[in-house]
Amino acid sequence: MSEKIQRVKGVNDILPVEASRWQYLETVVSQVMARFAYGEIRPPIFEKTELFARSVGEDTDIVSKEMYSFQDMSGTSLTLRPELTAGVVRSYIQNNLQQISPVQKLWYEGPMFRQERPQKGRYRQFWQLGAEAIGSPNPEQDVEIIALFHAILQELGIADSVSLKINSVGDSESRQSYRTALQDFLRPHLNELSETSQHRFETNPLRILDSKAPNDREIIKDAPKIRDCLNASSVDHYEQVLQMLTEMNIPFVQDDLLVRGLDYYTHTIFEFTSDALGAQDAICGGGRYNDLVKELGGNDVPAIGWASGIERLLLVVDALKPAESSSTMDLFLVVQAEELRAHAPGIIQKWRMAGLRCDFDTLKRSMKAQLREANRQRARFAAILGNDEYSQGVVQLKNFETGEQSAIAFDRVVETINNYR
Ligand code: HAM
Repeated sequence: MSEKIQRVKGVNDILPVEASRWQYLETVVSQVMARFAYGEIRPPIFEKTELFARSVGEDTDIVSKEMYSFQDMSGTSLTLRPELTAGVVRSYIQNNLQQISPVQKLWYEGPMFRQERPQKGRYRQFWQLGAEAIGSPNPEQDVEIIALFHAILQELGIADSVSLKINSVGDSESRQSYRTALQDFLRPHLNELSETSQHRFETNPLRILDSKAPNDREIIKDAPKIRDCLNASSVDHYEQVLQMLTEMNIPFVQDDLLVRGLDYYTHTIFEFTSDALGAQDAICGGGRYNDLVKELGGNDVPAIGWASGIERLLLVVDALKPAESSSTMDLFLVVQAEELRAHAPGIIQKWRMAGLRCDFDTLKRSMKAQLREANRQRARFAAILGNDEYSQGVVQLKNFETGEQSAIAFDRVVETINNYR
């Protein structure tokens, strides 16, 4: 036997039994997106590497060690997207979406790629669902986009088991003064910090707040709070966001240590986490990125967005609401006589084109085996076709739920089954 080829580490096969749960989630998401007036965007899976270096940031984990980058035949460095905010902004600028309307509200879904250490809820190819609102600097927009994710959680029935953590990193002036305050605080402890945090001390001291190293955490707990370094307009923006969330009854917790692993954030940042997950408990992360459009060559246009890991969302849905096993098959055609098998594809084609979900046997199996297959597929009905039935233009329609069986004309089958829906 030839050697079997295994899938690459950290990626998943989504098999048909799971795909139906994905489709359920996708249906919920597209309905909620439509209610919130977000339009779907489908940017490419790969982009120039430079796009991510300039947006997510050279010094982040994502860009410094997790990207799947390769050179194409012309020698250009390309990267499988590790996230989609950068791609959406690139597309927004390139396609002049600003001209269509001053606020562009976009959503997306698709696979992302990061070379992280795989574990439950953390994969190398994973799916994100995300939304970006580009154009408005105002707190109403922050609140709308948070409410959008909250609505998706509500529709999925998991809002109560998820908590929202929120913080503000302010504008660039506020961040600069916090950076200085944090460095002043950490300098006397520099030698006690982990190696990664020592490196970040110069390059990106805010990320030290995110360190998981126990000793770092001990030091950080007394660090100055970013909230104390926000300038007046940043405080004002943040307070309005919190006020509106309260008014909307969207529960949140202010988390002074919350920082995000991507460099483009300004003002509001947030994360939704779930207790139903293990170490990888973030099901959604996002925030404002008021400088990114300009930094990528567009106009000075503010924006805010979030992205959520679909595998993690489904783990939470699963933990709380086990999938219901419902029948997805209306009818199984059971052919009794050998000489009738050749008519089966034509008969079933008509039913399928009329909207029935039906199947038949292509392995020339016995009647008993065909009925067993009908059962395995949880068909609601079997249409049994023998020589007598064929000559009379009928099938024996068996209702698996009630056990009833009666002869039904070929052209009445669809109507009869539809009457039972
Ligand atoms: P992020 O926090 O890097 O943000 O990712 C968002 C979400 O994607 C996470 O909360 C998590 O649910 C999921 N996720 C991330 N990495 C993995 C992984 N390796 N395996 C499974 N799920 C994962 C962003 O990507 C930003 N683009 C969000 C954003 C949009 N900010 C503004 N707009």
